[in-house]
Amino acid sequence: MAEDTVKPRRWDPIVKLTHWGIVIAVIGNALVTEEGSGWHIWVGYGLAALLALRLLWGFIGPAEARFSAFPPSPSRAMAHIGEIRRGDVVKHASHNPLGALMVYAIWACLGVIIATGIAMAGPPPADPNAEQHHHERKAQVVGAAPTGERAEAREGGKGDEAAKGEEGEGEEDALTEVHEVAVNLLYLLIALHLAGVVFETRRNGREIVGAMLPGGNRKA
Ligand code: HEM
Ligand code: HEM
Repeated sequence: MAEDTVKPRRWDPIVKLTHWGIVIAVIGNALVTEEGSGWHIWVGYGLAALLALRLLWGFIGPAEARFSAFPPSPSRAMAHIGEIRRGDVVKHASHNPLGALMVYAIWACLGVIIATGIAMAGPPPADPNAEQHHHERKAQVVGAAPTGERAEAREGGKGDEAAKGEEGEGEEDALTEVHEVAVNLLYLLIALHLAGVVFETRRNGREIVGAMLPGGNRKA
């Protein structure tokens, strides 16, 4: 049980909305929509909008929701592991330092999924960072021979990159591949995230799930 001296912390409505919205969108595209379908893309853009809102909120939201409240810091994460080992319970107004690393990892993973998804889906430009090797490949294709040994090139080693992008089909393959790998990585991160939530709840007794649920916003 939470200590009486510390009032239950509640996340603000935007953090709650974006969290559960992202959960619904991820589950929707993982289990409900058909891969690459109109609905999949539509849900994908919804996911992108929710993530964008959350990231904006990281600059302008209340103190606990800001990036400055949970910097990605391996040294703090190590210190936090030390606290766990010693059985110390230290209250954190925002995500604990291990949780913070998980949050950034999930966001990064979602970013890759969104960027590759949009690049495959069509018009709006993808995140330039995530799309970089896409452009590199395109640039290499310019000088590529027109006649196709694509199938062989595709099976071939890393040196065959230039031929791979011919007619843009190799690019699509690569995007699909990255999309899929990032999706699988996301599933792993989600499993760890849920394990972390359960572990933290057992260890700490603090109602971290309650803090993320709708209703009753009390200030900590
Ligand atoms: C977490 C959310 C998402 C999940 C779980 C997910 C999952 C998947 C999976 C498993 C595939 C099949 C990949 C394959 O063919 O091997 C796929 C394909 C695809 N996804 Fe997503 N996706 C997500 C988000 C997005 C987003 C944000 C977009 C774009 C707005 C998008 C657009 C596409 C497209 C266009 C394809 C077709 C690829 C092809 O040509 O085969 N996805 N997605
Ligand atoms: C698709 C599945 C999920 C994803 C991608 C996901 C992702 C995230 C992310 C990105 C955050 C950081 C929130 C922010 O600062 O905006 C977070 C926090 C949190 N999530 Fe999830 N989540 C998922 C499922 C769940 C589920 C099912 C639960 C409930 C059991 C849950 C409970 C929590 C809690 C309690 C926090 C706050 C942890 C803290 O106090 O530091 N999540 N999640």
